[in-house]
Amino acid sequence: MMAARKSAPGPTAAVAARRRPTVAEFRDKAARGERLVVVTAYDATFARLVHEGGADALLVGDSLGNVIAGHATTLPVTLDHMIYHGAAVRRGAPDALVIVDMPFLTYQVSDDRALLNCGRVVQETGAQAVKLEGGSTAIARTIRAVVDLGVPVMGHLGFTPQSEHALGGPRVQGRGATAAARLLDDARRLEDAGAFAIVLELVPAAVAETITAAVAIPTIGIGAGPHCSGQVLVLHDLLGLNDTFSPKFLKRYAAMADEVRGAVRAFGGDVRTGTYPDAGHSF
Ligand code: KIV
Repeated sequence: MMAARKSAPGPTAAVAARRRPTVAEFRDKAARGERLVVVTAYDATFARLVHEGGADALLVGDSLGNVIAGHATTLPVTLDHMIYHGAAVRRGAPDALVIVDMPFLTYQVSDDRALLNCGRVVQETGAQAVKLEGGSTAIARTIRAVVDLGVPVMGHLGFTPQSEHALGGPRVQGRGATAAARLLDDARRLEDAGAFAIVLELVPAAVAETITAAVAIPTIGIGAGPHCSGQVLVLHDLLGLNDTFSPKFLKRYAAMADEVRGAVRAFGGDVRTGTYPDAGHSF
């Protein structure tokens, strides 16, 4: 009889009884001086592997618009996309700290909409937290409302991809004294609003260092130098799956694009020569 393909555990009563890591524990690790490791995940298989690889948190980034869907920006990503991928990540890594990005237009229009949308994300995915981009007083007010609802929020400053057109593309932010001071103000505002951590994307290392020293919550850098409380990378970039993307900050820890091409070539060769399937792979 053919073996059934094993699927990840579903949202059963057993899952409900699990003891999952909390955002408070995430903060505590940073307070103890441990550097935090955050990696993106978009599906159940990779979520399991990233969790088993020891990441402190899995970020279901709206970078899935680029990485998974092939869009040029994150702007086309919708709430339903994030819920679909967030739920898949949760099923793949039931014991992980999962943070889901709130996509463009789901939290900026009004606090009421933000509350409903952030609430839907945690309710329908099982994630413990959401991430919102920006540091304006309006965003800080929204973060406060979402935190008061009982949903932990991670902030995101520096290059914020949902504002890519306004920022003129993926450019380093916070260069120069005025811009650096503004970024520091934004970080303090997010901390005051109740954010449990802040992603700093494409920020000069010295500015990220100043912000990290100034706020009591962890900073998670991507292209923000070595002084943040932790680092985040997009999984497909760190695996070398996305070998057409080579920003200065990226270090690849595998060359999986070559592995994939090589494996498909080997499979193709076996099929074309009639080597596969052989008797050992037939019924
Ligand atoms: O969408 C994403 O993957 C992100 C990380 C790059 C921080 O926001």
